[in-house]
Amino acid sequence: MLNIALPKGRLGERVYSMLKRAGYPCPELENPARRLVFENADAGVRYFWVKPSDVTIYVEHGAADLGIAGKDILLENRPELYELLDLKTGICRMAVAAPEGFRDRRERTLRVATKFPRIAGDWYAKQSRDVELIHLNGSIEIAPLLGLSDVIVDIVETGKTLRENGLTVLETVCPISARLVANPSAYQFLADEIGTLTERLSRQVEDRKAE
Ligand code: PRP
Repeated sequence: MLNIALPKGRLGERVYSMLKRAGYPCPELENPARRLVFENADAGVRYFWVKPSDVTIYVEHGAADLGIAGKDILLENRPELYELLDLKTGICRMAVAAPEGFRDRRERTLRVATKFPRIAGDWYAKQSRDVELIHLNGSIEIAPLLGLSDVIVDIVETGKTLRENGLTVLETVCPISARLVANPSAYQFLADEIGTLTERLSRQVEDRKAE
């Protein structure tokens, strides 16, 4: 049985569709009510819905053999697990954004609000830029509007949230997409099962590219 941690929400649903097409359906999961664990013994799979930022914790501790996590979470938390496949879905980017008309004065410490202090810290360390990191847990876009920070480092997908808050992208830090990740010991003990699943998903990613 393969235990797979899926991120709750749109990304998880999209990846479940890929897993279903790959031969790992779980009819129960398609009408979940408030249950969080679903099993299909015939397909040899058990799914859990977990908070997206918790997927790597389940996989790292071996509570799940596999999981789907955004590259943002992997870069920020640097969990000890294997990244097996770029699923080329959940595509967005990590970016620095600021209120329109913002001018950076390099002689001053830059105040940066973010959910991703490690990614933001690394980005500015590379530029030897003196920053104060302000770690928030969400709704980052309001930080510059309220004068809490000068800029933000956050996920941008459509750019709508930035636009609606009068912010604009200054720089792109890195591209982000969903990754299939594995617990290292599960990867050894369940090598055949994990290999087959990875290959089938990989074929779907390739087919999608060719469309
Ligand atoms: C993310 C991100 C932005 C938004 C970007 O937030 O932090 O706020 O999505 O998407 P857009 O470019 O398509 O507008 P999320 O939905 O994860 O909520 P949060 O801010 O509460 O973390």
